[in-house]
Amino acid sequence: MTKVLIDCDPGIDDALALALVAGSPSLDLAGITTVAGNVDLARTTANALALREFLDLGDVPVAAGSAGALLREDVRAVRTHGVSGLGDADLPSPVRPASPGHAVDLIVDTLRDAPGEITLVATGPLTNIALAVRREPRVVEWAGDFVIMGGTYTRGNHTPAAEFNIAADPEAASIVFDAGWTVTMLGLDVTLTALVTTPVLDRMRPLGRLSTLLVPAASSYGMVTAEGGPAIHDACAVAYVLDPSLFTCVPAVVRVETAGRYTSGMTVTDFAPRDRRPNALVATSLDVSRFWDMVLDAYSRLGERLD
Ligand code: BDR
Ligand code: CA
Repeated sequence: MTKVLIDCDPGIDDALALALVAGSPSLDLAGITTVAGNVDLARTTANALALREFLDLGDVPVAAGSAGALLREDVRAVRTHGVSGLGDADLPSPVRPASPGHAVDLIVDTLRDAPGEITLVATGPLTNIALAVRREPRVVEWAGDFVIMGGTYTRGNHTPAAEFNIAADPEAASIVFDAGWTVTMLGLDVTLTALVTTPVLDRMRPLGRLSTLLVPAASSYGMVTAEGGPAIHDACAVAYVLDPSLFTCVPAVVRVETAGRYTSGMTVTDFAPRDRRPNALVATSLDVSRFWDMVLDAYSRLGERLD
């Protein structure tokens, strides 16, 4: 059983990542923390609360975090994720509220209480994680592993140089990459191969109540690529925790550009560093067919449980 804490900005693909957690008996969800990103913090938090109930995630704490980047103006992705953040999916309003504390406290406290045991997964801008490592630098030792969906060493999506989660808060990302741990970076280089193609969508349709989240969310997801179908970026981070052998990962030094006029948020990736020890494990390929088999198995297990 692997314990995970997920910091996210749901977000269609964040929702599909949480569904993967919910359908994976080998994962034990220790908490969900929210950050502003795809939509504002009130919506990412409301979505996380709705997903906790819809996905039957029990009493897992949900704590709201940062409402904006450390220094920058707000960047949102409403065109991609819809005004609600969950596209055309229409989940019942949540009944239970968020935990009273701040996300940063939940991250620090949860990692402190189980040093080495919890994998921290971030699928949104890295604002909460940066504040956590600034508040308590030992979180980098306490986290068993740290996995993000974010960055790119090939092409951006928010700009030609930068991926959205990093571009939304480059200063936070820079703090996080420089914090002294190894960041497992699942960037656009691999996540843009995890596409909800028509055959994949067809495999989601018979999943009963779960399909009322998966199908409208994926169908309205604005991240459609030239290759066809939107990429479910954030589910790749959870998939890595479930089975790292799905990915090829290469050690590298990753530095985040915070000053560039056209390159702000770029994750400058050096696979042959001479001046520094690697601070990242960067994914360079994904076994797409095994990925979908695993994800759709988890969804069908969850679908049966929810019906
Ligand atoms: C990332 O940006 C967000 O819009 C998605 O939820 C994902 O985390 C992809 O660049
Ligand atoms: Ca996200």
